[in-house]
Amino acid sequence: MQAFKDSGHLFRLAAVFVAGTILFLVLRTVLVPKSFGEYGHYRGNAMAEIAARPVHFAGHETCEACHADVLDKKKDGKHAHVNCEACHGPQAKHADDPSSVQPPKLDTLVLCVRCHEANAAKPKSFPQVASADHSSGLPCDTCHQPHSPAIESPAVASKAVGGGTK
Ligand code: HEC
Ligand code: HEC
Ligand code: HEC
Ligand code: HEC
Repeated sequence: MQAFKDSGHLFRLAAVFVAGTILFLVLRTVLVPKSFGEYGHYRGNAMAEIAARPVHFAGHETCEACHADVLDKKKDGKHAHVNCEACHGPQAKHADDPSSVQPPKLDTLVLCVRCHEANAAKPKSFPQVASADHSSGLPCDTCHQPHSPAIESPAVASKAVGGGTK
């Protein structure tokens, strides 16, 4: 029995391993949510929880149904493909109940430069202006109609302070 002289160590090690495995299995059963793995490597319930969250964006088709006048102005202009809520923000609550929820007034000096402030990293083909020179602090909608922003008339163009960067 010389070969098994110090086998006590091995049995103790095996006992620690078995205890560890049992502890792991117990903790796993207690901690892993019931719906985990229902569809894949995630909580099955997460799908229903996300689907139940309130919707914040109504989508431009919804806006256009009531604001046909704005759509008329916008559809032939340079902002035809900029959606309503890209500027007006998420307005699902307003679309559901327009009489009690009004969208906030927009400040064009903040809004327009978010997309149009000149920046060397933007594609050259994207219209951009150095706003400080271009508008000298005047709100952008003093000259541009937000829903159809191009200014064609030379009479107005001559009033521009800085002009475009073109
Ligand atoms: C069910 C019809 C309806 C829908 C849908 C709707 N609106 Fe309106 N909206 C109104 C009405 C009515 C008013 C208030 C009347 C007014 O001043 O023109 C209004 C007012 C506004 C105003 C403020 C006008 C002002 O004078 O300050 C904005 C901006 C606006 N809507 C944007 C939107 C956007 C963006 C959407 C889409 C997310 C949208 N609306 C969807 C009916 C609607
Ligand atoms: C490029 C940004 C931009 C987009 C895109 C845009 N708007 Fe506006 N809109 C403005 C600004 C700026 C104003 C003027 C300030 C204000 O009323 O808040 C305005 C004003 C309005 C008003 C007030 C009345 C009027 O005609 O001036 C309504 C209603 C409105 N927008 C609805 C819409 C709807 C509906 C869409 C989508 C079809 C839309 N807007 C898309 C920027 C935008
Ligand atoms: C969400 C981004 C976005 C916002 C905000 C925005 N624009 Fe634009 N704008 C665009 C896009 C996209 C175009 C089309 C560019 C193109 O045709 O290559 C455009 C085109 C224009 C043009 C036409 C330039 C030309 O080539 O004639 C003008 C002027 C303009 N915008 C002014 C404004 C003003 C003023 C505001 C604020 C009321 C505004 N924009 C807000 C995205 C934006
Ligand atoms: C004093 C009037 C005036 C004001 C205020 C103004 N613009 Fe302009 N803007 C013009 C004129 C005129 C043009 C040249 C005609 C055109 O391209 O539509 C122009 C052109 C542009 C262009 C096109 C540039 C290009 O390279 O094609 C953009 C983008 C623009 N403006 C954005 C803005 C923004 C953003 C603001 C607010 C910070 C603003 N504008 C304020 C008069 C004005």
